[in-house]
Amino acid sequence: MNREVLFSREEIDRRVRELADEISRDYAGGELIVVGILKGAFIFMADLIRALNVPCKVDFTQLASYGSGTVSSGDVVISKDIGLSIADRDVLIVEDIVDTGLTLSFLVETLKKRGPRSLKVCVFLDKKARRKVPFTADYTGFDIDDGFVVGYGLDFDEQGRSLPDVCIMKE
Ligand code: IMP
Ligand code: MG
Repeated sequence: MNREVLFSREEIDRRVRELADEISRDYAGGELIVVGILKGAFIFMADLIRALNVPCKVDFTQLASYGSGTVSSGDVVISKDIGLSIADRDVLIVEDIVDTGLTLSFLVETLKKRGPRSLKVCVFLDKKARRKVPFTADYTGFDIDDGFVVGYGLDFDEQGRSLPDVCIMKE
C-alpha cells in the first residue's frame, strides 16, 4: 500500500509542545503519573513528557482487543497492567489514537476503580466520527477523518511505527 504524509514531523513537534504547555499549566505545582498505552503511544509519550514542566512518574499498560487488521471488536482486556499505585495521585493516560472509544472507555473505567485523585486522557489523534461508545479526551493533538494512519508510533500490522511523520494509507 502507498502512503501520504498527513502531519509532518515539524507539525507534530509544534503540536506536542502546545499540548505539553497546556498540561503543564493545568498541573502546575503538582506531580503526574503518566500512563502510556503500549505499543502505539511510546513515541508520543516520550516527546510529550520531555516537553512537560511538571515532574512525572511513568508507567505503561497494554490492552488487547479481540479483532484483527484495522477493525477492533468490543472485548478489551488488560494484557499488561501498570506497576505503580495510582490511589490519590493525578493520573494522565497517554494514547496514540482514539477510534471506536472502546479501549479508552474500558481503561478509564478500570483505573477509576483504583481511586486516583484525578484521571485525564491525552490522545495524539482522534477519529471522532468512528465512535461506538461516547468518549471525549481531555487533550487532543489532532482530529482526523476516517482512514488508517501509520507513523509516530502507530502501526499497520506492526509496520510503520518508526516513521517520523504521520502518514495516511492509500490503496
Ligand atoms: P479503539 O478502541 O477503537 O478506540 O481503538 C484504538 C486503538 O486502535 C488504538 O490504540 C490503535 O492501536 C488502533 N487504531 C485505530 N485506528 C488506527 C489507525 O488509523 N492507525 C493505527 N492504529 C489505529
Ligand atoms: Mg494502540
